[in-house]
Amino acid sequence: MNIAVDERFDIWMTELEARHLAEHTFTEVRKALQSLSSIYVERREKLTAGAALEGAGKRAAFALFYAPLHFCLVQEIVRALGAGSGSERLLDLGCGTGAAGAAWALESGEACRLEGVDRSGWASRETRWNYRALGVRGRSARGDLLRTTLPGKGAGILAAFTVNELSGADRTRFLKKVLAAARRGARVLIVEPIGGRITPWWEEWADAFRAGGGRQNVWRFRVELPELLLRLDRAAGLDHRELAGRSLWLSEG
Ligand SMILES: C[S@@+](CC[C@H](N)C(=O)[O-])C[C@H]1O[C@@H](n2cnc3c(N)ncnc32)[C@H](O)[C@@H]1O
Repeated sequence: MNIAVDERFDIWMTELEARHLAEHTFTEVRKALQSLSSIYVERREKLTAGAALEGAGKRAAFALFYAPLHFCLVQEIVRALGAGSGSERLLDLGCGTGAAGAAWALESGEACRLEGVDRSGWASRETRWNYRALGVRGRSARGDLLRTTLPGKGAGILAAFTVNELSGADRTRFLKKVLAAARRGARVLIVEPIGGRITPWWEEWADAFRAGGGRQNVWRFRVELPELLLRLDRAAGLDHRELAGRSLWLSEG
């Protein structure tokens, strides 16, 4: 266990709670969380329209609940893949509030610099705050991942819970971009939730990653959630004591 990272996570959770529960009551966040989870689970077509991060309540629920869960899941995946070393630079595309990229950066050592890109101005500002709170060296910018120049050797590229938000045509363009970056030596990690209905494009991407020497994995991790996440999870009728997800990983090393 990496104590330094775990301590930073605990401090971050305390600061997140103070930040978001100053503006919203627990009950407001719980209700927003239920609405957000129904968008994620049942009405994913609304995602491409950006509905998930509309409204202060849903934003708070995302920042306070889903972002730390994504941090924990990506941290476990990076550890399981042995992906924690070898990247001087990390690019987090569709970074949301920055949590998933920060998890990878904290596994990659002090020298690693992180850049978050998101089309949402709110997400970009929140990412800046989270990088500071987690002690990650990085910056974030508002932008479209399809217009972002992707790095090559020495860099890692992450898209966590993002590819599914793209339209079919954009997803095809994005696949070509990340495969080209991998051929230039970048390491690429894609993370999505489990569920064939939710990600019907997954097999095509998995074939393309395998053809390039990469791998796909389905993961289930039993984690000890912080008290606040447990309380929100229970109150919203959810169960995230086991974190599940799938990944695509392509690395020449
Ligand atoms: C479900 S959130 C995931 C956020 C983060 N990666 C995480 O794991 O917590 C998806 C994010 O992708 C962003 N996004 C969707 N399409 C995008 C695009 N074309 N360019 C940049 N960001 C995009 C959304 O604004 C949103 O913040």
